[in-house]
Amino acid sequence: MPEIAFHLNGTPVRVELADPTRTLLDLLREDRGLTGTKEGCNEGDCGACTVMVTDAAGTRALNACILFVAQLHGRAVTTVEGIAAPDGRLHPVQQAMVDHHGSQCGFCTPGFIASMATAHLNGRTDHDDQLAGNLCRCTGYAPIVRAAEAAAAEPVPDWIRAAAPAETGPAPLAPATADALAAALAADPGALLVGGATDVGLWVTKELRRPERLIFLHACRELQRIDETATGFRVGAGVTVQRLRAATETALPALAGYLRRFASEQIRGAATVGGNIANGSPIGDLPPALIALGATLTLRRGAQHRTIPLEAFFLDYRKQDRAPDEFVHSVDFRKTNGNFRAYKISKRFDQDISAVAAGFDMMLDEGVATGVRLAFGGMAGTPKRARAAEAALEGRAFGLPEIHDAMAALAEDFAPMSDMRASAGYRLRVAQNLLLRWCHELNGEPVSVLEMGA
Ligand code: FAD
Ligand code: FES
Ligand code: FES
Repeated sequence: MPEIAFHLNGTPVRVELADPTRTLLDLLREDRGLTGTKEGCNEGDCGACTVMVTDAAGTRALNACILFVAQLHGRAVTTVEGIAAPDGRLHPVQQAMVDHHGSQCGFCTPGFIASMATAHLNGRTDHDDQLAGNLCRCTGYAPIVRAAEAAAAEPVPDWIRAAAPAETGPAPLAPATADALAAALAADPGALLVGGATDVGLWVTKELRRPERLIFLHACRELQRIDETATGFRVGAGVTVQRLRAATETALPALAGYLRRFASEQIRGAATVGGNIANGSPIGDLPPALIALGATLTLRRGAQHRTIPLEAFFLDYRKQDRAPDEFVHSVDFRKTNGNFRAYKISKRFDQDISAVAAGFDMMLDEGVATGVRLAFGGMAGTPKRARAAEAALEGRAFGLPEIHDAMAALAEDFAPMSDMRASAGYRLRVAQNLLLRWCHELNGEPVSVLEMGA
């Protein structure tokens, strides 16, 4: 039976891969007696199960409840039990949590400590963002954020720096090259591809599915590539949302800013670009933004590649233009001349699924709009362009009267659904108002909740 080899709190371990959907959380708590890592929601929402995962790319905070043991080959895992020194000295974030009264019932605390130790190691001081994936029901966030601030100035302890990735051979069920991946899928068409498992993990923990034919993508180096040119990006399907956000911060700050609203640090560290597109959700956050940026999708089947406009990939509700032996290889999208914006409407600022998401872009030639691309998620069974609204702007001066025409035209483009996230009427109204917001924002008016003052 294939084995998964990784480091657990500094000790090399080998685990037989009897069940490729066994989660790290179950392994830690059931087999290893490491019960410091807690199970809250078992669906990636609460952060009680957060652990530190280190590989050649660095250290990330990930949710152990939807991380399969099979994804750990060659990586190092540090749980809350490994964050204090072997001689019992506390890590600076632990000491600061004590000093600042950052814990009451303590159920959330191990997860907070794992997120804080990761942020501390990575020199991150955007504490609200780093901790948005950790839910505390009793202490309140002020003491916890004060603790994170207090610990930030302390050096990273030597024992944390020592958490190096394990040296191992090839990863089981995880092809290392795109050729090997294409061959594996050709030999087993319809096998379930696993990117970050932030969707697939929930099929296992919540829907109790037990998929048996799995191919993991995390070891495929070609899918991890980000190539930036003067005019655009090519992003491999296996690139995480966290890496996409970092890579686009300078060239496409509106995209990077929008990605702050994608789930939480733990989910962004696992979720892949290819997974967000391939799952075909009408409320995935990447497609509307990337469609607005003129994205094309490259798929591979055997030795053949084909490239299509991203919007053409989404055929109908949960029906995508992908053969059972084909995989999403990469997505290309352009940089913009400054008019691109992406917006997300959800009930919470952080860690929430969109009711409506939108991406807008155009060129402005002496005030006249050309190449207008308006794309929405949450407004139909698929992510979709708003062709009538685009036509209302194309070739005309860009200003409030034209935006109002586009807002009216949006009612021809979409007849949205009512569901638990939003009513049809709300969706249409908010989508129209996002166009208005775009116009105000391009006119230099403050529109973001983060910019608003009293
Ligand atoms: P996986 O779970 O690995 O796979 C998803 C699907 O895509 C599977 O069908 C898989 O077979 C297929 N697949 C993966 N890679 C490929 C490939 N290269 N080629 C072909 N098929 C492939 N999503 C949002 O858009 N916005 C959010 O704010 C958001 N918040 C979330 C919060 C939580 C707590 C959770 C658990 C999920 C959230 N999601 C959100 C959903 C999820 O994180 C994203 O859809 C994510 O991008 C999926 O990527 P993955 O790599 O984890 O996909
Ligand atoms: Fe809630 Fe894992 S148990 S995120
Ligand atoms: Fe009780 Fe955070 S201290 S949930």
